[in-house]
Amino acid sequence: MLARRLRRQAAWCSELGSPLYASLLESAADDLQLGGPVWEVLEGFDDEPGTAALALRFMGAVHRLVLDETLPELARHYPSTGGEGDASATWPAFKRAVVDQRAKLRDLLGAGCQTNEVGRSAALLGGFLEVAHRTHLPLRILEIGASAGLNLRWDRYRYESSEGAWGDETSEVRFVHSFEIPPAMNRSAAVVERKGCDLQPVDPTSVEGALTLRSFIWADQLGRLALLDGAIQVASDLPIEVEPLDAADFLQRELATSAEGVATVVYHSVFMQYVDEAGRKRLEAAVAGARQRASPHAPVYHLRLEPGARTEARFEVRLDDQLLGTSLAHGTGVRWLEDSSQQ
Ligand SMILES: C[S@@+](CC[C@H](N)C(=O)[O-])C[C@H]1O[C@@H](n2cnc3c(N)ncnc32)[C@H](O)[C@@H]1O
Repeated sequence: MLARRLRRQAAWCSELGSPLYASLLESAADDLQLGGPVWEVLEGFDDEPGTAALALRFMGAVHRLVLDETLPELARHYPSTGGEGDASATWPAFKRAVVDQRAKLRDLLGAGCQTNEVGRSAALLGGFLEVAHRTHLPLRILEIGASAGLNLRWDRYRYESSEGAWGDETSEVRFVHSFEIPPAMNRSAAVVERKGCDLQPVDPTSVEGALTLRSFIWADQLGRLALLDGAIQVASDLPIEVEPLDAADFLQRELATSAEGVATVVYHSVFMQYVDEAGRKRLEAAVAGARQRASPHAPVYHLRLEPGARTEARFEVRLDDQLLGTSLAHGTGVRWLEDSSQQ
């Protein structure tokens, strides 16, 4: 069961461009099946649901100890700390690290998975521009499950495609490889209010928060790491508090009265799988109630990037009931549907 989880994550890492993690996870699964040191670290975690992302927490825990200089031998191999990233040369050092740091790794595993993928802003961009285009109103954006709030600053990033660009040319965050079929970018949008919530928010401007976020990036994905570092910089220039609050409670409060003269966009990415049935019902009721009270001067939209129903690999960007486009899990490979825009 546990080995199957590691191998499943290995396949995802391979699919999403992390050959180092794909190989390390396969070796870790072999080791676990032999009752080796990986088993000794992961023993007792087998009852968790798949959504608890044990394999990613394990890799994140090891990466954290690389980044904080606890594991200098492994750091010499990890690309995030200047290493060559050769998987077969890395595995022996990885295995030694698992033996030497068993207790710390088990502690870190207990802390849960806390990721914030800024690349998802590229997948969401077309949805925000679509709302601005339809309504001609400034945007009030409300993100639930916002983690560190990096995607609450999507309008401070630069997006470039073969067919146009959007956003601040001087931004520290530049998406240049995200679009296969881009959305229309010749549209303006202004964010006038932004708020977010999360059960376990991360402060990206703190040393601890930045280390947590960096540790969950796959160590051979230097492009993602550079985007994250840029987003942490933008976050320190534009501070936003992500409230430590349940999403349904947050929406019930924020949507209780209509906001005139702005288009409210409730949004989330890779979030719904963590919410139980009762929570989902409360969320849906809060959004549905707000949409019933909405008017042309105070419209309410629901934008999301979540795993697709049709193929596991492609995630779907939906605005209310409409499919606008798809992307890969981290917001790359965006394919916008040509007829998704309301003229
Ligand atoms: C996989 S992370 C995704 C974070 C971010 N949306 C992104 O795309 O990078 C899921 C987030 O949802 C948060 N979360 C889960 N259930 C929640 C709830 N009921 N209310 C608020 N946040 C929740 C978790 O704490 C976590 O930060």
